[in-house]
Amino acid sequence: MGKFDLTGKTALITGAGRGIGLQIALTLQEAGADIILTDADAIRATDAADQFLVKPQVHQLDVTDSQSVRDLAARIGFCPDILVNNAGVSRAAPTKHTTDEDWRVVLSVNLDGVFYCSRTFGSLMAERGSGAIVNISSMCGDVVTRQESVVTAYNASKAGVNMVTKTLACEWARSGVRVNAVAPGFVRSEMTDKYPEEVVKAWSDQTPMRRFGQPHEIASAVQFLASDAASYITGTVLLVDGGYTCW
Ligand SMILES: NC(=O)c1ccc[n+]([C@@H]2O[C@H](COP(=O)([O-])OP(=O)(O)OC[C@H]3O[C@@H](n4cnc5c(N)ncnc54)[C@H](O)[C@@H]3O)[C@@H](O)[C@H]2O)c1
Repeated sequence: MGKFDLTGKTALITGAGRGIGLQIALTLQEAGADIILTDADAIRATDAADQFLVKPQVHQLDVTDSQSVRDLAARIGFCPDILVNNAGVSRAAPTKHTTDEDWRVVLSVNLDGVFYCSRTFGSLMAERGSGAIVNISSMCGDVVTRQESVVTAYNASKAGVNMVTKTLACEWARSGVRVNAVAPGFVRSEMTDKYPEEVVKAWSDQTPMRRFGQPHEIASAVQFLASDAASYITGTVLLVDGGYTCW
């Protein structure tokens, strides 16, 4: 695997109980990393751990609770080499019908969570002088997708993730910590399975590759950015979107 090899590194992934996060954890383990699998849903996280060849460490972590993030760092007792801020939620509704609670939940999981985890683990990485953070953003942080659903809070949260990524990348660039983001297009997961088939078809038709991405296609990009193969890359938001944003 050469520079893509993660042997000897420990990777902490948030929201890894299912979907893209779970696939990222499996892929990073395949690349040699020791895995710390976390999710707000403790049962989901424990069940997910059964899918690994080597059982990962499993911890319940709600990324919206900054004290829990600090407590987890203390419980683990060392600083991971790789942090993947993957936990995210989406609530689609016309803006008129988006409640205060909808707005807060989406912003707190998708944006506060990235900040809290980066602040705790990234600061430890910076003190140590090495580390890589990969944030799971979305192409929706950059473009507004066509209006089969309205996701104002989601889009705002992911635009925020992109700016957090660039800002932390600059802050920690000379401390040996790289901070990047992967911005997926439409990917098959429980987040998108809730949409009706005609919406899924419309989104596929609007994508130059005419299909949704698979979680493993996002995980490969994360592996790259987390590895020494990306040693001169920081502050980048890497689109993995089947060409959606070209049109
Ligand atoms: N599926 C897509 O099309 C798509 C596209 C672009 C970006 N993304 C992003 O990819 C990431 C993963 O999405 P997915 O499709 O796998 O979603 P998913 O809903 O299948 O999985 C999300 C996971 O996050 C966990 N989670 C939710 N709230 C949490 C919290 N407060 N703390 C910790 N964990 C929490 C859930 O328990 C779940 O296991 C998200 O950041 C999402 O915004 C997804």
